[in-house]
Amino acid sequence: MKGAIGIYGFRVMGENLARNIESKGYPVTIGNRSVEVIREFMEGKGKEGKFIPAYSIEEFAASLEKPRKVMLMIKAGETVDLTIENFLPYLEPGDTLIDGGNSNYEDTERRVQYLEEKGIYYIGSGVSGGELGALYGPSMMPGGNKEAWAGVKDIFMAIAAKAGTNGEEPCTTWIGNGGSGHYVKTVHNGIEYGDMQLISEVYAILRDVVGADNEEMAKIFSTWNAGRLESYLVEITSEILNEKDETGEYIVNYILDKAMQKGTGKWTVISALEEGEPVTLITEAVYARILSSMKSERVAAAKGVEKPRSLAEKKDTVDLLEKALYAAKIISYAQGFSLMKAASDHYRWELKLGEIASIWRGGCIIRSAFLNDIRAAYEENVELKNLMVAPFFRTELEETVKGLREMVILGIRNGIAMPAMSSALSYYDGYHTENLPANLLQAQRDYFGAHMYERVDRPEGEFFHHNWSGEGGNTASTIYKV
Ligand code: 6PG
Repeated sequence: MKGAIGIYGFRVMGENLARNIESKGYPVTIGNRSVEVIREFMEGKGKEGKFIPAYSIEEFAASLEKPRKVMLMIKAGETVDLTIENFLPYLEPGDTLIDGGNSNYEDTERRVQYLEEKGIYYIGSGVSGGELGALYGPSMMPGGNKEAWAGVKDIFMAIAAKAGTNGEEPCTTWIGNGGSGHYVKTVHNGIEYGDMQLISEVYAILRDVVGADNEEMAKIFSTWNAGRLESYLVEITSEILNEKDETGEYIVNYILDKAMQKGTGKWTVISALEEGEPVTLITEAVYARILSSMKSERVAAAKGVEKPRSLAEKKDTVDLLEKALYAAKIISYAQGFSLMKAASDHYRWELKLGEIASIWRGGCIIRSAFLNDIRAAYEENVELKNLMVAPFFRTELEETVKGLREMVILGIRNGIAMPAMSSALSYYDGYHTENLPANLLQAQRDYFGAHMYERVDRPEGEFFHHNWSGEGGNTASTIYKV
Protein backbone atom coordinates (compact mmCIF):
# COMPACT_ATOMS: atom_id res chain seq x y z
CA MET A 1 0.00 0.00 0.00
CA LYS A 2 1.31 3.43 -0.98
CA GLY A 3 0.18 6.73 0.51
CA ALA A 4 -2.10 8.88 -1.67
CA ILE A 5 -0.74 11.81 0.30
CA GLY A 6 1.63 12.23 3.20
CA ILE A 7 1.13 14.36 6.30
CA TYR A 8 4.37 15.49 7.85
CA GLY A 9 4.10 17.10 11.27
CA PHE A 10 2.01 15.13 13.66
CA ARG A 11 0.89 17.50 16.36
CA VAL A 12 -2.85 17.70 16.86
CA MET A 13 -3.66 19.50 13.56
CA GLY A 14 -1.53 17.10 11.52
CA GLU A 15 -2.91 14.03 13.24
CA ASN A 16 -6.51 15.14 12.85
CA LEU A 17 -6.06 16.07 9.21
CA ALA A 18 -4.46 12.68 8.53
CA ARG A 19 -7.39 10.93 10.25
CA ASN A 20 -9.84 12.99 8.23
CA ILE A 21 -8.13 12.07 4.93
CA GLU A 22 -7.94 8.40 5.89
CA SER A 23 -11.61 8.37 6.85
CA LYS A 24 -12.41 9.38 3.27
CA GLY A 25 -10.71 6.24 1.98
CA TYR A 26 -7.23 7.55 1.14
CA PRO A 27 -4.18 5.74 2.49
CA VAL A 28 -2.02 8.33 4.29
CA THR A 29 1.68 8.32 5.00
CA ILE A 30 2.43 9.92 8.34
CA GLY A 31 5.68 11.31 9.65
CA ASN A 32 7.09 13.64 12.24
CA ARG A 33 10.49 15.04 13.20
CA SER A 34 10.40 13.16 16.46
CA VAL A 35 9.20 9.70 15.47
CA GLU A 36 7.98 8.70 18.93
CA VAL A 37 4.62 10.40 18.22
CA ILE A 38 4.16 8.24 15.12
CA ARG A 39 4.99 5.08 17.02
CA GLU A 40 2.48 5.93 19.73
CA PHE A 41 -0.22 6.73 17.19
CA MET A 42 0.34 3.44 15.35
CA GLU A 43 -0.01 1.55 18.62
CA GLY A 44 -3.26 3.35 19.40
CA LYS A 45 -5.65 5.22 17.11
CA GLY A 46 -3.70 4.40 13.96
CA LYS A 47 -3.83 0.62 14.37
CA GLU A 48 -6.95 0.01 12.34
CA GLY A 49 -6.70 2.55 9.54
CA LYS A 50 -4.85 2.85 6.26
CA PHE A 51 -1.95 4.74 7.80
CA ILE A 52 1.60 4.19 6.61
CA PRO A 53 4.07 5.17 9.30
CA ALA A 54 7.38 6.63 8.11
CA TYR A 55 10.31 6.96 10.48
CA SER A 56 12.56 9.05 8.24
CA ILE A 57 12.04 11.49 5.40
CA GLU A 58 13.54 8.97 3.01
CA GLU A 59 11.01 6.35 4.08
CA PHE A 60 8.26 8.95 3.93
CA ALA A 61 9.04 9.85 0.32
CA ALA A 62 9.46 6.21 -0.71
CA SER A 63 6.08 5.24 0.70
CA LEU A 64 4.12 7.70 -1.46
CA GLU A 65 2.41 7.17 -4.80
CA LYS A 66 4.07 9.18 -7.58
CA PRO A 67 3.84 12.05 -8.26
CA ARG A 68 4.14 12.55 -4.52
CA LYS A 69 1.96 14.82 -2.47
CA VAL A 70 3.40 15.93 0.83
CA MET A 71 1.50 18.16 3.20
CA LEU A 72 3.51 19.89 5.91
CA MET A 73 1.60 20.55 9.12
CA ILE A 74 4.41 22.22 11.00
CA LYS A 75 5.12 25.50 12.76
CA ALA A 76 5.23 28.47 10.41
CA GLY A 77 8.52 30.32 9.90
CA GLU A 78 12.03 29.04 9.47
CA THR A 79 11.03 25.45 10.26
CA VAL A 80 9.17 25.35 6.94
CA ASP A 81 12.29 26.35 4.98
CA LEU A 82 14.41 23.81 6.85
CA THR A 83 11.87 21.05 6.29
CA ILE A 84 11.62 21.86 2.58
CA GLU A 85 15.40 21.52 2.35
CA ASN A 86 15.23 18.17 4.16
CA PHE A 87 12.62 16.89 1.73
CA LEU A 88 14.19 18.16 -1.49
CA PRO A 89 16.74 15.34 -1.97
CA TYR A 90 13.86 12.83 -1.92
CA LEU A 91 11.45 14.64 -4.24
CA GLU A 92 11.29 14.60 -8.03
CA PRO A 93 10.00 17.11 -10.57
CA GLY A 94 6.21 16.89 -10.66
CA ASP A 95 5.88 16.22 -6.92
CA THR A 96 3.82 18.60 -4.81
CA LEU A 97 4.63 20.13 -1.44
CA ILE A 98 1.80 21.71 0.51
CA ASP A 99 2.23 23.96 3.52
CA GLY A 100 -0.92 23.78 5.68
CA GLY A 101 0.34 26.04 8.47
CA ASN A 102 -0.32 29.70 9.17
CA SER A 103 2.61 30.87 7.06
CA ASN A 104 3.25 34.44 6.07
CA TYR A 105 2.09 34.91 2.47
CA GLU A 106 5.34 36.59 1.51
CA ASP A 107 7.27 33.49 2.57
CA THR A 108 4.86 31.37 0.53
CA GLU A 109 5.29 33.63 -2.49
CA ARG A 110 9.06 33.13 -2.25
CA ARG A 111 8.79 29.36 -1.73
CA VAL A 112 6.51 28.90 -4.74
CA GLN A 113 9.14 30.53 -6.95
CA TYR A 114 12.05 28.73 -5.36
CA LEU A 115 10.48 25.31 -5.83
CA GLU A 116 9.21 26.10 -9.31
CA GLU A 117 12.85 26.44 -10.36
CA LYS A 118 13.35 22.86 -9.17
CA GLY A 119 10.24 21.54 -10.92
CA ILE A 120 8.42 20.97 -7.61
CA TYR A 121 4.90 22.30 -7.25
CA TYR A 122 4.21 24.26 -4.10
CA ILE A 123 0.88 25.06 -2.51
CA GLY A 124 0.44 27.31 0.50
CA SER A 125 -2.91 26.45 1.98
CA GLY A 126 -4.78 28.18 4.74
CA VAL A 127 -6.47 25.56 6.90
CA SER A 128 -9.04 26.91 9.32
CA GLY A 129 -11.22 25.30 11.91
CA GLY A 130 -8.88 24.33 14.69
CA GLU A 131 -8.48 20.75 15.88
CA LEU A 132 -12.07 19.71 15.31
CA GLY A 133 -12.19 21.36 11.92
CA ALA A 134 -9.10 19.43 10.86
CA LEU A 135 -10.76 16.20 11.95
CA TYR A 136 -14.32 16.69 10.71
CA GLY A 137 -13.89 19.21 7.92
CA PRO A 138 -11.89 22.42 7.78
CA SER A 139 -12.20 25.32 5.39
CA MET A 140 -9.15 25.25 3.14
CA MET A 141 -7.64 28.05 1.10
CA PRO A 142 -5.03 26.63 -1.28
CA GLY A 143 -2.94 28.88 -3.51
CA GLY A 144 0.40 28.66 -5.30
CA ASN A 145 1.29 26.59 -8.29
CA LYS A 146 -1.95 26.00 -10.18
CA GLU A 147 -0.68 22.87 -11.97
CA ALA A 148 -0.64 21.10 -8.63
CA TRP A 149 -4.33 21.68 -7.94
CA ALA A 150 -5.62 18.90 -10.21
CA GLY A 151 -3.57 16.36 -8.25
CA VAL A 152 -4.86 17.29 -4.80
CA LYS A 153 -8.28 18.70 -5.58
CA ASP A 154 -10.21 15.48 -4.93
CA ILE A 155 -8.63 14.98 -1.53
CA PHE A 156 -9.20 18.63 -0.57
CA MET A 157 -12.83 18.49 -1.70
CA ALA A 158 -13.41 15.22 0.17
CA ILE A 159 -12.03 16.37 3.52
CA ALA A 160 -13.28 19.98 3.55
CA ALA A 161 -16.34 21.04 5.50
CA LYS A 162 -19.54 21.16 3.47
CA ALA A 163 -21.88 24.13 3.36
CA GLY A 164 -24.97 25.25 1.48
CA THR A 165 -28.60 24.33 1.93
CA ASN A 166 -28.02 20.77 0.76
CA GLY A 167 -24.74 20.54 2.70
CA GLU A 168 -22.85 19.48 -0.39
CA GLU A 169 -20.71 22.49 -1.28
CA PRO A 170 -17.10 21.86 -0.21
CA CYS A 171 -15.48 24.71 1.71
CA THR A 172 -12.41 24.81 -0.47
CA THR A 173 -11.53 26.20 -3.87
CA TRP A 174 -8.41 27.19 -5.75
CA ILE A 175 -7.61 30.67 -4.46
CA GLY A 176 -4.95 31.85 -6.87
CA ASN A 177 -1.24 31.87 -7.56
CA GLY A 178 1.75 32.71 -5.36
CA GLY A 179 1.03 33.42 -1.71
CA SER A 180 -2.69 34.12 -2.26
CA GLY A 181 -3.94 31.12 -0.25
CA HIS A 182 -2.01 32.14 2.83
CA TYR A 183 -2.93 35.77 2.25
CA VAL A 184 -6.63 34.93 2.29
CA LYS A 185 -6.11 32.87 5.45
CA THR A 186 -4.31 35.84 7.02
CA VAL A 187 -7.25 38.14 6.29
CA HIS A 188 -9.59 35.41 7.58
CA ASN A 189 -7.66 35.49 10.84
CA GLY A 190 -7.72 39.30 10.91
CA ILE A 191 -11.49 39.17 10.55
CA GLU A 192 -11.50 36.53 13.29
CA TYR A 193 -9.67 39.01 15.57
CA GLY A 194 -12.29 41.64 14.69
CA ASP A 195 -15.25 39.35 15.39
CA MET A 196 -13.76 38.26 18.72
CA GLN A 197 -13.09 41.83 19.82
CA LEU A 198 -16.61 42.92 18.85
CA ILE A 199 -18.14 40.09 20.86
CA SER A 200 -15.89 41.00 23.78
CA GLU A 201 -17.08 44.61 23.65
CA VAL A 202 -20.69 43.43 23.73
CA TYR A 203 -19.77 41.29 26.74
CA ALA A 204 -18.23 44.35 28.46
CA ILE A 205 -21.44 46.33 28.06
CA LEU A 206 -23.60 43.44 29.22
CA ARG A 207 -21.41 42.64 32.21
CA ASP A 208 -20.33 46.11 33.34
CA VAL A 209 -23.16 48.41 32.27
CA VAL A 210 -26.26 46.24 32.09
CA GLY A 211 -25.16 44.05 34.99
CA ALA A 212 -26.22 40.79 33.33
CA ASP A 213 -24.95 37.56 34.88
CA ASN A 214 -23.27 34.75 32.96
CA GLU A 215 -26.41 32.74 32.56
CA GLU A 216 -28.32 35.70 31.16
CA MET A 217 -25.48 36.56 28.81
CA ALA A 218 -25.23 32.98 27.61
CA LYS A 219 -28.94 33.08 26.81
CA ILE A 220 -28.61 36.37 24.94
CA PHE A 221 -25.83 34.98 22.75
CA SER A 222 -27.66 31.73 22.10
CA THR A 223 -30.80 33.67 21.10
CA TRP A 224 -28.72 35.77 18.73
CA ASN A 225 -27.21 32.62 17.33
CA ALA A 226 -30.66 31.62 16.14
CA GLY A 227 -30.97 34.82 14.10
CA ARG A 228 -28.94 36.87 11.66
CA LEU A 229 -25.87 36.73 13.93
CA GLU A 230 -25.71 32.93 13.63
CA SER A 231 -22.03 32.06 13.73
CA TYR A 232 -19.55 29.74 15.32
CA LEU A 233 -18.00 32.48 17.47
CA VAL A 234 -21.37 33.63 18.86
CA GLU A 235 -22.29 30.00 19.51
CA ILE A 236 -19.11 29.19 21.44
CA THR A 237 -19.36 32.47 23.36
CA SER A 238 -22.69 31.30 24.75
CA GLU A 239 -21.18 27.96 25.75
CA ILE A 240 -18.09 29.59 27.28
CA LEU A 241 -20.18 31.93 29.43
CA ASN A 242 -22.15 29.01 30.84
CA GLU A 243 -19.23 26.68 31.53
CA LYS A 244 -18.44 25.95 35.19
CA ASP A 245 -15.48 24.17 36.74
CA GLU A 246 -15.69 21.30 39.22
CA THR A 247 -16.24 23.76 42.10
CA GLY A 248 -19.26 25.26 40.36
CA GLU A 249 -17.54 28.54 39.42
CA TYR A 250 -17.77 30.06 35.97
CA ILE A 251 -14.40 29.44 34.32
CA VAL A 252 -14.43 32.58 32.19
CA ASN A 253 -14.65 34.74 35.35
CA TYR A 254 -11.28 33.40 36.46
CA ILE A 255 -9.41 33.80 33.19
CA LEU A 256 -6.77 36.54 33.26
CA ASP A 257 -7.71 39.36 30.88
CA LYS A 258 -4.46 39.32 28.90
CA ALA A 259 -5.02 38.41 25.25
CA MET A 260 -2.27 36.79 23.25
CA GLN A 261 -1.65 36.49 19.54
CA LYS A 262 0.55 34.72 17.09
CA GLY A 263 0.85 37.32 14.35
CA THR A 264 -1.72 36.82 11.63
CA GLY A 265 -3.81 39.79 12.80
CA LYS A 266 -0.71 41.96 12.73
CA TRP A 267 0.15 40.78 9.20
CA THR A 268 -3.33 41.76 8.05
CA VAL A 269 -2.83 45.23 9.46
CA ILE A 270 0.66 45.61 7.97
CA SER A 271 -0.71 44.61 4.59
CA ALA A 272 -3.63 47.04 4.99
CA LEU A 273 -1.19 49.87 5.57
CA GLU A 274 0.88 48.82 2.59
CA GLU A 275 -2.16 48.60 0.35
CA GLY A 276 -3.50 51.94 1.63
CA GLU A 277 -6.71 50.32 2.85
CA PRO A 278 -8.42 51.60 6.00
CA VAL A 279 -8.88 48.31 7.84
CA THR A 280 -9.51 50.14 11.07
CA LEU A 281 -11.53 47.58 12.97
CA ILE A 282 -9.01 44.75 12.70
CA THR A 283 -6.23 47.21 13.51
CA GLU A 284 -8.02 48.25 16.69
CA ALA A 285 -8.65 44.60 17.51
CA VAL A 286 -4.92 43.92 17.36
CA TYR A 287 -4.19 46.97 19.52
CA ALA A 288 -6.90 45.95 21.98
CA ARG A 289 -5.08 42.65 22.50
CA ILE A 290 -1.81 44.50 23.02
CA LEU A 291 -3.39 46.91 25.51
CA SER A 292 -5.00 44.03 27.37
CA SER A 293 -1.61 42.37 27.74
CA MET A 294 -0.34 45.39 29.73
CA LYS A 295 -2.13 44.09 32.79
CA SER A 296 0.14 45.41 35.54
CA GLU A 297 0.30 48.88 33.99
CA ARG A 298 -3.49 48.92 33.71
CA VAL A 299 -3.96 47.78 37.28
CA ALA A 300 -1.67 50.54 38.53
CA ALA A 301 -3.25 53.21 36.32
CA ALA A 302 -6.80 52.20 37.23
CA LYS A 303 -6.26 52.84 40.96
CA GLY A 304 -8.35 55.76 42.09
CA VAL A 305 -9.82 56.45 38.65
CA GLU A 306 -13.60 56.66 38.93
CA LYS A 307 -15.54 55.23 36.01
CA PRO A 308 -18.52 57.31 34.99
CA ARG A 309 -21.75 55.37 35.42
CA SER A 310 -24.75 55.81 33.22
CA LEU A 311 -27.04 52.85 33.42
CA ALA A 312 -29.16 51.55 30.61
CA GLU A 313 -32.45 49.70 30.34
CA LYS A 314 -31.65 46.00 29.93
CA LYS A 315 -34.20 45.04 27.31
CA ASP A 316 -33.52 48.05 25.06
CA THR A 317 -29.79 47.63 25.41
CA VAL A 318 -29.86 43.97 24.43
CA ASP A 319 -31.83 44.82 21.27
CA LEU A 320 -29.49 47.68 20.43
CA LEU A 321 -26.43 45.51 21.08
CA GLU A 322 -27.70 42.95 18.60
CA LYS A 323 -28.00 45.67 15.98
CA ALA A 324 -24.61 47.13 16.93
CA LEU A 325 -22.84 43.79 16.64
CA TYR A 326 -24.46 43.04 13.31
CA ALA A 327 -23.71 46.49 11.86
CA ALA A 328 -20.11 46.44 13.07
CA LYS A 329 -19.66 42.97 11.61
CA ILE A 330 -20.85 44.12 8.20
CA ILE A 331 -18.45 47.06 8.39
CA SER A 332 -15.55 44.82 9.44
CA TYR A 333 -16.13 42.38 6.57
CA ALA A 334 -16.49 45.32 4.20
CA GLN A 335 -13.00 46.41 5.25
CA GLY A 336 -11.53 42.91 5.06
CA PHE A 337 -12.98 42.16 1.62
CA SER A 338 -11.92 45.54 0.34
CA LEU A 339 -8.39 44.75 1.51
CA MET A 340 -8.44 41.43 -0.35
CA LYS A 341 -9.57 43.22 -3.49
CA ALA A 342 -6.70 45.71 -3.22
CA ALA A 343 -4.13 42.98 -2.61
CA SER A 344 -5.57 40.93 -5.45
CA ASP A 345 -5.16 43.84 -7.87
CA HIS A 346 -1.68 44.53 -6.57
CA TYR A 347 -0.39 40.95 -6.81
CA ARG A 348 -2.61 40.01 -9.80
CA TRP A 349 -4.13 37.10 -7.89
CA GLU A 350 -7.58 37.50 -9.44
CA LEU A 351 -9.23 36.59 -6.15
CA LYS A 352 -12.87 35.65 -6.46
CA LEU A 353 -14.35 37.33 -3.43
CA GLY A 354 -17.74 35.60 -3.73
CA GLU A 355 -16.05 32.19 -3.71
CA ILE A 356 -13.96 33.16 -0.71
CA ALA A 357 -17.12 34.12 1.18
CA SER A 358 -18.58 30.82 0.07
CA ILE A 359 -15.75 28.63 1.42
CA TRP A 360 -15.81 30.49 4.73
CA ARG A 361 -19.41 29.45 5.32
CA GLY A 362 -18.39 26.16 6.87
CA GLY A 363 -15.47 24.66 8.78
CA CYS A 364 -13.61 27.82 9.66
CA ILE A 365 -13.59 29.92 12.82
CA ILE A 366 -15.51 32.83 11.27
CA ARG A 367 -18.18 30.65 9.68
CA SER A 368 -21.54 32.33 9.83
CA ALA A 369 -24.87 32.60 8.13
CA PHE A 370 -24.22 36.07 6.84
CA LEU A 371 -21.37 34.91 4.59
CA ASN A 372 -24.20 33.70 2.35
CA ASP A 373 -25.26 37.32 1.94
CA ILE A 374 -21.69 38.39 1.20
CA ARG A 375 -21.42 35.71 -1.46
CA ALA A 376 -24.72 36.86 -2.95
CA ALA A 377 -23.53 40.48 -3.00
CA TYR A 378 -20.42 39.56 -5.02
CA GLU A 379 -22.40 37.25 -7.29
CA GLU A 380 -24.66 40.18 -8.06
CA ASN A 381 -21.75 42.51 -8.74
CA VAL A 382 -18.19 41.17 -9.04
CA GLU A 383 -16.87 44.70 -9.32
CA LEU A 384 -18.44 45.76 -6.02
CA LYS A 385 -16.23 48.48 -4.49
CA ASN A 386 -17.32 48.02 -0.91
CA LEU A 387 -19.81 45.66 0.73
CA MET A 388 -21.45 48.54 2.59
CA VAL A 389 -22.83 49.90 -0.68
CA ALA A 390 -24.22 46.60 -1.94
CA PRO A 391 -28.00 47.10 -1.97
CA PHE A 392 -28.68 44.39 0.63
CA PHE A 393 -26.05 45.57 3.11
CA ARG A 394 -26.88 49.22 2.55
CA THR A 395 -30.43 48.53 3.71
CA GLU A 396 -29.25 46.37 6.61
CA LEU A 397 -26.90 49.11 7.76
CA GLU A 398 -29.59 51.77 7.50
CA GLU A 399 -31.61 49.73 9.96
CA THR A 400 -28.81 48.79 12.36
CA VAL A 401 -26.23 51.59 12.44
CA LYS A 402 -28.36 53.51 14.90
CA GLY A 403 -27.87 50.60 17.31
CA LEU A 404 -24.13 50.84 16.80
CA ARG A 405 -24.24 54.59 17.41
CA GLU A 406 -26.25 54.16 20.62
CA MET A 407 -23.97 51.44 21.95
CA VAL A 408 -20.78 53.39 21.23
CA ILE A 409 -22.32 56.35 23.07
CA LEU A 410 -23.30 54.08 25.95
CA GLY A 411 -19.77 52.69 26.11
CA ILE A 412 -18.23 56.14 26.07
CA ARG A 413 -20.63 57.39 28.77
CA ASN A 414 -19.59 54.50 30.96
CA GLY A 415 -15.88 54.63 30.35
CA ILE A 416 -15.91 51.28 28.54
CA ALA A 417 -13.26 50.96 25.85
CA MET A 418 -15.00 50.13 22.57
CA PRO A 419 -12.15 50.32 20.05
CA ALA A 420 -13.65 47.97 17.48
CA MET A 421 -17.20 49.32 17.57
CA SER A 422 -16.17 52.95 17.61
CA SER A 423 -13.68 52.51 14.79
CA ALA A 424 -16.38 50.73 12.77
CA LEU A 425 -18.69 53.67 13.27
CA SER A 426 -16.02 56.23 12.35
CA TYR A 427 -15.25 54.31 9.19
CA TYR A 428 -18.94 54.10 8.32
CA ASP A 429 -19.43 57.79 8.96
CA GLY A 430 -16.27 58.75 7.08
CA TYR A 431 -17.14 56.57 4.09
CA HIS A 432 -20.62 58.07 3.92
CA THR A 433 -19.48 61.71 4.12
CA GLU A 434 -19.23 63.83 1.04
CA ASN A 435 -17.08 66.55 2.57
CA LEU A 436 -14.47 65.43 5.07
CA PRO A 437 -12.26 67.96 6.85
CA ALA A 438 -9.27 66.82 4.80
CA ASN A 439 -9.34 70.12 2.90
CA LEU A 440 -7.96 71.74 6.05
CA LEU A 441 -5.37 69.02 6.40
CA GLN A 442 -4.22 69.55 2.83
CA ALA A 443 -3.93 73.28 3.50
CA GLN A 444 -1.77 72.58 6.56
CA ARG A 445 0.50 70.32 4.52
CA ASP A 446 0.83 72.94 1.86
CA TYR A 447 1.44 75.65 4.48
CA PHE A 448 4.39 74.01 6.18
CA GLY A 449 5.78 71.87 3.43
CA ALA A 450 4.51 73.15 0.08
CA HIS A 451 2.97 69.72 -0.48
CA MET A 452 0.26 71.11 -2.78
CA TYR A 453 -3.46 70.46 -2.99
CA GLU A 454 -6.19 69.88 -5.55
CA ARG A 455 -9.18 72.23 -5.82
CA VAL A 456 -12.88 71.45 -5.83
CA ASP A 457 -13.38 73.75 -8.80
CA ARG A 458 -10.58 72.29 -10.92
CA PRO A 459 -10.04 68.85 -12.49
CA GLU A 460 -8.63 66.12 -10.24
CA GLY A 461 -4.90 65.69 -10.70
CA GLU A 462 -4.20 69.40 -11.12
CA PHE A 463 -2.11 70.58 -8.16
CA PHE A 464 -1.74 74.02 -6.60
CA HIS A 465 0.52 75.65 -4.09
CA HIS A 466 -0.23 78.81 -2.15
CA ASN A 467 2.34 80.95 -0.38
CA TRP A 468 0.43 80.97 2.94
CA SER A 469 2.81 82.91 5.18
CA GLY A 470 4.02 85.28 2.52
CA GLU A 471 7.54 84.12 3.36
CA GLY A 472 7.75 80.72 1.69
CA GLY A 473 8.83 80.49 -1.91
CA ASN A 474 6.59 79.52 -4.75
CA THR A 475 8.30 76.22 -5.36
CA ALA A 476 6.17 73.22 -4.46
CA SER A 477 7.48 69.89 -3.22
CA THR A 478 6.89 66.74 -5.19
CA ILE A 479 3.71 64.68 -4.93
CA TYR A 480 3.65 61.13 -3.85
CA LYS A 481 0.86 58.89 -2.77
CA VAL A 482 0.57 56.03 -0.31
C1 6PG B 1 -8.20 29.00 12.44
C2 6PG B 1 -7.52 29.83 13.49
C3 6PG B 1 -6.18 29.28 13.79
C4 6PG B 1 -5.60 29.79 15.09
C5 6PG B 1 -5.25 31.24 15.06
C6 6PG B 1 -5.12 31.80 16.45
O1 6PG B 1 -8.56 29.58 11.44
O2 6PG B 1 -8.35 27.80 12.65
O3 6PG B 1 -7.40 31.13 13.02
O4 6PG B 1 -5.39 29.48 12.68
O5 6PG B 1 -6.51 29.54 16.10
O6 6PG B 1 -4.03 31.34 14.42
O7 6PG B 1 -4.49 32.97 16.34
P1 6PG B 1 -3.96 33.83 17.54
O8 6PG B 1 -3.14 32.91 18.42
O9 6PG B 1 -3.14 34.89 16.89
O10 6PG B 1 -5.17 34.31 18.25
